[in-house]
Amino acid sequence: ALNADDKAHVQAIWPSVASHPDQYGGEALYRMFVSSPQTKTYFPNFDMHKDSPQILAHGKKVVNALTEASKHMDDIDGALSKLSDLHAYDMRVDPGNFKILAHHILVTIATHFPDKFDCLTHQALDKFLAAVGTALTSKYR
Ligand code: HEM
Repeated sequence: ALNADDKAHVQAIWPSVASHPDQYGGEALYRMFVSSPQTKTYFPNFDMHKDSPQILAHGKKVVNALTEASKHMDDIDGALSKLSDLHAYDMRVDPGNFKILAHHILVTIATHFPDKFDCLTHQALDKFLAAVGTALTSKYR
């Protein structure tokens, strides 16, 4: 679970990410689609070019959901309950893909905010994204 230090580190860097949700969310998705092309199969009607309208719009949704989670770090499962239903029952996303997307979100943040991305911030974001992944895959069985 996230301790008080983790929460403070997430809250310190997240507003920077949340300030441009389409840009950073879109970059994370694009990195995922390029590096892990099997993830593209979940988005058959997306234009897969960098900064396509679909990638930017979906990136914005992902980052905004993470922003919501960042405001409820003591109850991430509850905050993302509806989203968890969608990913488990409607989209049936393989749970392994959440680790892959988390990795690309970390890389995106690290490249844009190198000064803020110190070791403890990295660790805190990793724990935060793992908790989100757990929440979004908790309905699978
Ligand atoms: C839809 C968030 C991970 C596949 C969505 C939506 C949000 C979201 C907010 C929109 C839901 C709605 O329309 O009400 C997240 C978050 C993730 C995550 C916060 C983890 C950090 C993933 C992963 C995949 C995935 C790893 C698959 C590789 C999808 C698909 C949709 C979707 C296919 C529907 C897209 C569409 O056609 O509009 N997700 N997601 N998600 N997500 Fe995720």
